[in-house]
Amino acid sequence: ELINWCVEDTRKGGFAHYMLKEIYEQPQSFYETIRAGIDEHVRQMVMEADEITLVACGTSYHTALAFKYLAEPLCNIPVRVEMGSEFKYFTPPLRGLAIAVSQSGETADTIAALKMAKARNCPTLAITNMQGSTVTRVADETLLMRAGPEIGVAATKSYTAQLAALMEIVNLRCEGAFDDVLSHAHLAIGDVLLQDINEAVALCSKAEHVFFVGRGAFYPVSMEGALKMKEISYVHAEGYAAGELKHGPFALLTPETPVVAVCTPGPTYGVMASNIKEMKARKAPVIALGVAGDTELAEIVDIFIPIPNTHLLVQVLTASVVLQLLAYHTACALQRDVDKPRNLAKSVTVE
Ligand code: AGP
Repeated sequence: ELINWCVEDTRKGGFAHYMLKEIYEQPQSFYETIRAGIDEHVRQMVMEADEITLVACGTSYHTALAFKYLAEPLCNIPVRVEMGSEFKYFTPPLRGLAIAVSQSGETADTIAALKMAKARNCPTLAITNMQGSTVTRVADETLLMRAGPEIGVAATKSYTAQLAALMEIVNLRCEGAFDDVLSHAHLAIGDVLLQDINEAVALCSKAEHVFFVGRGAFYPVSMEGALKMKEISYVHAEGYAAGELKHGPFALLTPETPVVAVCTPGPTYGVMASNIKEMKARKAPVIALGVAGDTELAEIVDIFIPIPNTHLLVQVLTASVVLQLLAYHTACALQRDVDKPRNLAKSVTVE
């Protein structure tokens, strides 16, 4: 099947930046990717796997890591995630299905890793936004995401479309248990686009360092929030697993160092809440993303940003979108060149 992109999709359409337009396109690009589903060959490949290794770089590495945190507990399959740039030189013993995740399909490190997995006789799958790209030619099969053209250097709608494709795989392995959750997720993404985050933006745009923390699937979400912040606003940001801050980074916490914490109901809620109290005790201002109506959390933090009280899969998406908006508006407040951040290219075709 050929996918047509029209010229209109490559224009800004009234938005100040491509990045903002692309953030706002996410309900549609997520929905389209879910609607496209998974073809029979890919289904078979996914169902036959008894272990999955994902290779990716940058933002795509974060979606791959989020997949690990979702797929292992939800579908009880071992998942390994490797950075393309490391994999080539430190290739681990490989078993099962290898998946390359790449928006552009042209990232040199990811392609090299994919080729090595193929050389070791693993069945290979490419998850990409680019029909006909190199990864699609190297991999045995392709799962195409339907994000449409992404012009801003910062990956936004391709990130959530990758999550759509990866969540489809989780759903397939769980025999369709999340059909309903995934087919309605775009509505919750639409809701958070309207979230007021001005106070948080004001805090981050004055800061020299910002920490992003979460547990489980919100750990890669935090790493992605930090990457977006660094990449387009040039504010130094670090994404951490929340429990790790006390093993070193606590030394950096001051009243001028905001911590963005994702804390939603679930097995780690209590321990996250105590991590937040520890940060507050070090006088760091805490911006918390929690579910709407969580007054207990709202009371212990400086700024509370509600996300819809939905399934974990959807919270991963909505929290990520809020963090994209936080990075975007911080970059605008600092008058950065949002769509073309310094020293970066849209796709990295060299090692
Ligand atoms: C993220 O905003 C960046 N554009 C970058 O980290 C990107 O995700 C990385 O270079 C990988 O690109 P790919 O998905 O096209 O392989």
